[in-house]
Amino acid sequence: MISDRKDDHVRLAVEHHQSGGRNEFDDVTFIHHALAGIDRADVSLNTRFADIDWGVPLYINAMTGGSDRTGDINRDLAIAARETGVPLASGSMSPFLKDVSTANTFSVLRDQNPDGFVIANVNATTTVAQAQRAVDLLRADALQIHLNTVQETVMPEGDRSFAAWGPRIEEIVAGVDVPVFVKEVGFGLSRETVRRLSKFGVSVADVGGRGGTNFARIENSRRAGGDYAFADGWGQSTPACLLDASDVGLPLFASGGVRHPLDVVRGLTLGASAVGVAGTFLKTVLDGGPNALITQITTWLDQIESIMTMLGARTPADLSHCEVRIRGDLREFCTDRGIDVYRFARPFLPVP
Ligand code: FNR
Repeated sequence: MISDRKDDHVRLAVEHHQSGGRNEFDDVTFIHHALAGIDRADVSLNTRFADIDWGVPLYINAMTGGSDRTGDINRDLAIAARETGVPLASGSMSPFLKDVSTANTFSVLRDQNPDGFVIANVNATTTVAQAQRAVDLLRADALQIHLNTVQETVMPEGDRSFAAWGPRIEEIVAGVDVPVFVKEVGFGLSRETVRRLSKFGVSVADVGGRGGTNFARIENSRRAGGDYAFADGWGQSTPACLLDASDVGLPLFASGGVRHPLDVVRGLTLGASAVGVAGTFLKTVLDGGPNALITQITTWLDQIESIMTMLGARTPADLSHCEVRIRGDLREFCTDRGIDVYRFARPFLPVP
């Protein structure tokens, strides 16, 4: 049953969640300039790209819907999004497209958050008409299409046919009446993939890299034999993807393994237009309900502004002038892919 799978994903994502674990965001460190600071009053989180007003450079990424329990989670996520003003994505709406009786477990995202930025979510086998139905149900401001070949491969009941995904994305972009974002679910988008997405006309590529929620591990633990353990480290990390695709010219979102406000600032500095969080916020909302998530997001936004003040960045876009060092495995990845790490040794913004 699809609704059982949705409940499994929530349970296993939280069971496997490691709040303090290391990931490749730790390979990105800022050069500290003791005189770079500006006045907090001059910092704004206002975020705009691809003709979209996004509000703040953060969002709650796609997670769930399709069962009673996940409908309740969506209600709580929507309340937190409404109270904090962060955009919010639905989980995959395949359950609704297969069984209309699950509609309310998704439409609650809009009912609780009538004026917020809400994103519908479908897979890359969805027809244009189905994609538009998903958008219409949520009166969505944008549509995400998720790419998840690794997850489908390890999932016992997963798809095994992927060749038609590219042409289908192109059809959906041409056929729906909202901007289309394409995302990975934690294995990353390569530079080559982002280039193809750009040719298809998508508005944003959400790199959805390795380092946080791991769907190879989650699906493997749903297999009787657990025989796909070797797939555990598959894919590129989120900072690696941002560096890899930075020259393509398509707006990028950073998601996958974002643990705290410093990771958000790191993602923006490496060129992301906004940063998405799934697993970390899911754990908070399950432990403490919508109020705990409201407190967490409010604190994060406050701390993002504090870090920008210290770094001398008036806007999220200004962060792209801040100087970082790239170390460890991430530096080795850059060497292998011909990425010039010295590009990120930039002069800090002079105080006027
Ligand atoms: C997800 N994710 C996801 N993504 C998607 O596009 N459609 C979906 O239905 C789901 N479902 C889902 C369920 C649960 C319980 C989690 C935790 C996540 C993937 C999510 O949007 C994100 O890409 C990854 O989780 C990586 O980000 P984090 O969790 O490391 O912040």
